Amino acid sequence: MNFCSDNVTGVAPEILAALAAANAGAAASYGADVITERLTRRFSDLFEREVTVFPVATGTAANALALATLTPSYGVIYGHRDAHFQVDECGAPEFYAGGAKLAMLDGEHGKISAATLERAVFGKGVVHHAQPASVSLTQATEAGTVYKADEIADIAEVCRRHGLALHVDGSRFANAVAALNRSPADLTWRAGVGALSFGATKNGAMAAEAVVFFDPAKAADFAYRRKRGGHLFSKMRFLSAQLEAYLEDELWLKNARHANRAAGRLADGLAAVAGAKLRHPVEANEIFVELPEAVIRGLLSDGFEFHRWPDEASTCIRLVTAFDTDARSVEAFLASARRHGGASRAGRAR
Ligand SMILES: Cc1ncc(COP(=O)(O)O)c(C=O)c1O
Repeated sequence: MNFCSDNVTGVAPEILAALAAANAGAAASYGADVITERLTRRFSDLFEREVTVFPVATGTAANALALATLTPSYGVIYGHRDAHFQVDECGAPEFYAGGAKLAMLDGEHGKISAATLERAVFGKGVVHHAQPASVSLTQATEAGTVYKADEIADIAEVCRRHGLALHVDGSRFANAVAALNRSPADLTWRAGVGALSFGATKNGAMAAEAVVFFDPAKAADFAYRRKRGGHLFSKMRFLSAQLEAYLEDELWLKNARHANRAAGRLADGLAAVAGAKLRHPVEANEIFVELPEAVIRGLLSDGFEFHRWPDEASTCIRLVTAFDTDARSVEAFLASARRHGGASRAGRAR
């Protein structure tokens, strides 16, 4: 009944079991344990090349520490106006990067384009201007859409021309990979991505994200930044155990496919509700839909939980599905919406 966020979920049983298993006995501290050591191999296999991996406990730390590593204090970080790192991280990227400047770009459905980025980059080599340094894309985006591999490659080409590092906030990377049915490599380094915040918390972990660098040379000072930022966990094995279990037997993709399917079903079902209008294409596990006020109130009075978006005054609501979304809750939500709204004449929410 709760569609507020994929953060309201508990922990996937496989990950809880891995935590319990990691709890046996003593283990070396600060990442020198065997589970953490295994992670590099696991992530390198997953991405089909040698990568450097740093577990942290929050998405904000992953983004801010990665961006700080890629951006000098006098640099500019480009990203979508609605990107989490721009609006929801309380200035963490600027703080960790020692005052770097954020440049907000517009773009439909939560995505920036190569052309918009090209137009925005300016001042390179001019001492009076903050220096273009890095770009961050969110995958899946805050609008519930995904960047296709060729869209990433086009943006990466602009980055290459201007000497910008390309980071991906993959808080919902699993949902994007599941939606696009492309390999993790195709959606990252093969398309020109330099670093990825690989999320796990929203998709079944308790608290674990991995910062992945595709060029180990670029990761040289990350370890010091992580320690200084308070994210070098002494009992690192517990973060690493979550990430290892997350990758095991493709749990990360299985969970994401489940969440995406539930979102697809909600989007299809909302098509039968009079007055429902999707604000963005539903491509991953988030839905933004405008509904008549009576329907929203009816759903709330029936006990469903969700956020109005972007604020309480709105008649657009955000629904987020997750690895544990129950099919019965989805059907109950749709039945409630139909009951309060009546059937759509048009037949499809668009
Ligand atoms: C796209 C995106 N990136 C990063 C984060 C940050 O994660 P955390 O809340 O763990 O810092 C979130 C959290 O909602 C998010 O939605």
